[in-house]
Amino acid sequence: MSKTLTLLPGDGIGPEVSSAAVQVLKAAGAEFEWESFVVGAEAVEKNLPPLPDRVLESIRRNGVCLKGPVTTPVGKGFRSINVLLRQELELYANVRPAKSIPGLDDRFPGVDLVIIRENTEGLYSGIEHQVVPGVMESLKIISAKASTRVAKFAFEYARSNGRRRVTAVHKANIMKLSDGLFLDCFREVAEGYPDIEADDRIIDNMCMQLVMHPQRYDMLLLENLYGDIVSDLAAGLVGGLGVAAGANIGEESAVFEAVHGSAPDIAGQGVANPTALMRSSILMLRHLDMRDEADRIARALRNVVVDQQIRTRDLGGDASTVQFTEAIIRHIESA
Ligand code: NAI
Repeated sequence: MSKTLTLLPGDGIGPEVSSAAVQVLKAAGAEFEWESFVVGAEAVEKNLPPLPDRVLESIRRNGVCLKGPVTTPVGKGFRSINVLLRQELELYANVRPAKSIPGLDDRFPGVDLVIIRENTEGLYSGIEHQVVPGVMESLKIISAKASTRVAKFAFEYARSNGRRRVTAVHKANIMKLSDGLFLDCFREVAEGYPDIEADDRIIDNMCMQLVMHPQRYDMLLLENLYGDIVSDLAAGLVGGLGVAAGANIGEESAVFEAVHGSAPDIAGQGVANPTALMRSSILMLRHLDMRDEADRIARALRNVVVDQQIRTRDLGGDASTVQFTEAIIRHIESA
């Protein structure tokens, strides 16, 4: 019997790239039953809350969700669905690999980073208020529990994936208490992993290092806001948002999604690059221990993008989302 997973197609380019990823999963032999839900603005239009309870129930029941991007209103309206999902399901570790694809974008060859971002607190705790008119305050929450938990995740990930070094990234020279605690927890956890090298960098220096010598780094561990920004920077080193995959992992459930957003500027035009969500699907298959199916999609992506040079517009090609997806499926079926 095929496994049931939750699907949130999202909005903007979400439905286009989700449909592409689901077709490719099926072609690769990964047959799932999908429980599909609308969230965000689309749910609100149907008089539902932006994140209906039955969506959370479905993810808790199935344990795994594939998610397209969801638009977050700026400055007003409902809270980010992405942040809510991560907090409600305690998806405390955000995993974002950034690896150069030879032949795709050769400005930064040999980059092979895995970025682990704390996903539940920091400045994204959503605790903001007006102190007096004209003065706003956002609270940055850093707890020993969440910092220790994500540091352990990073070192365990390093161990089980053959990684050698974890670098904590912080601003503890200025935010001595909050970032200081994050760093202390990292150092304490590191002591339990003598086989993995541990060091740290200040965030501003880290950004410069990543642009000048990204090959020198292996795994980075960051709190929420820094992780959000630096993982987009890393995506830019290796081909951009169209190819950057991500996973949100908790004790009970996991949500796999691309790093990019709903791209309203190109939504509905049929030109979105579905590679990022396809690569997130590969992470999902590996999480489910479906290695053969994952390898099939990875091989097809490499062949189509690098060897056949069939690419969407963001990578300098002219293939539509559908043409690109068909090429991937053809490769899988003929392999
Ligand atoms: P974005 O990632 O949607 O777009 C940035 C630029 O990259 C745009 O020019 C877009 O066309 C391009 N781009 C992104 N993905 C692409 C793809 N697959 N193929 C080709 N080009 C692609 O970032 P933006 O514009 O800052 O955010 C738009 C909305 O998405 C916002 O409401 C934001 O809150 C939301 N968002 C949602 C995320 C999620 O659901 N996980 C993550 C990031 C943003």
